[in-house]
Amino acid sequence: MTAKWDEIDQCAQQWIREAGERIRASFAEKLTIETKANANDLVTNVDRDIEQFFAAQIRRRFPDHHLLGEEGFGDPLEALDGIVWIIDPIDGTMNFVHQQRHFAVSIGVFADGIGQLGYVYDVVVDELYWARKGQGVWLNGEPLSRLRPVPIAESVIAVNATWLMENRRLDHRPLVRLAKEARGTRSYGSAALELAYVAAGRLDAYLSPRLSPWDFAGGMVLIEEAGGVVTNLNGEPLDLLGPNSVLAAKPGVHEEILQRYLSR
Ligand code: IPD
Ligand code: CA
Ligand code: CA
Repeated sequence: MTAKWDEIDQCAQQWIREAGERIRASFAEKLTIETKANANDLVTNVDRDIEQFFAAQIRRRFPDHHLLGEEGFGDPLEALDGIVWIIDPIDGTMNFVHQQRHFAVSIGVFADGIGQLGYVYDVVVDELYWARKGQGVWLNGEPLSRLRPVPIAESVIAVNATWLMENRRLDHRPLVRLAKEARGTRSYGSAALELAYVAAGRLDAYLSPRLSPWDFAGGMVLIEEAGGVVTNLNGEPLDLLGPNSVLAAKPGVHEEILQRYLSR
């Protein structure tokens, strides 16, 4: 497959900036808010508009590429053959609705299932995290340092409070121990931003039981390019076509969390 990665990257960055402008402009307008799977699963007219915007741009410029998107304007994909854009138009919709901050546009571009380009754009603070396979990771054009191991006692770990209390998806007790033994915990409410923070070394690990490919596709490319590790909570590779648990961390920290806190 001969893909023009410079051209794809240039388009992606331009469309992301344009999407950011549209989202910022929407703050002045009244939002239409609906719920999806449950009363706390929000979607707005802006989420839909932005995904449609990306879908139209990609189809016009790269008609042979495929798109997997949260809001349903993508393609019904059963395989990852060819070039696939995995897009979350707004990751952190609850924050977008309630706070007008702490949300991001997230994009991963894959070739035959291998991450080639990753973007997480924090719209309000205008921070673009960007990675290209084999070339490195940048934050607004500044190269980010390679991730190195740190002890758990000096780690800041992102985990939602839901997973530190009794829940249906996992045994919370080892995670409570992890929260106690770490230097601190954080929860920002946007998986894409939390993954970007791991890539940038602002967080040492992030974990979550159930995420969709559009939540982690962009951030996963960033972290892997920065020398971090991204797997599910069993240490296995993520499936880009379905829901996954996610453990993303600096090297060493990932191994220690898996062995000391997650293995049964
Ligand atoms: C959500 C956010 C949140 C995570 C949820 C996701 P959305 O995405 O990433 O941090 O905990 O599982 O669904 O719905 O705001 O795009
Ligand atoms: Ca999301
Ligand atoms: Ca979303």
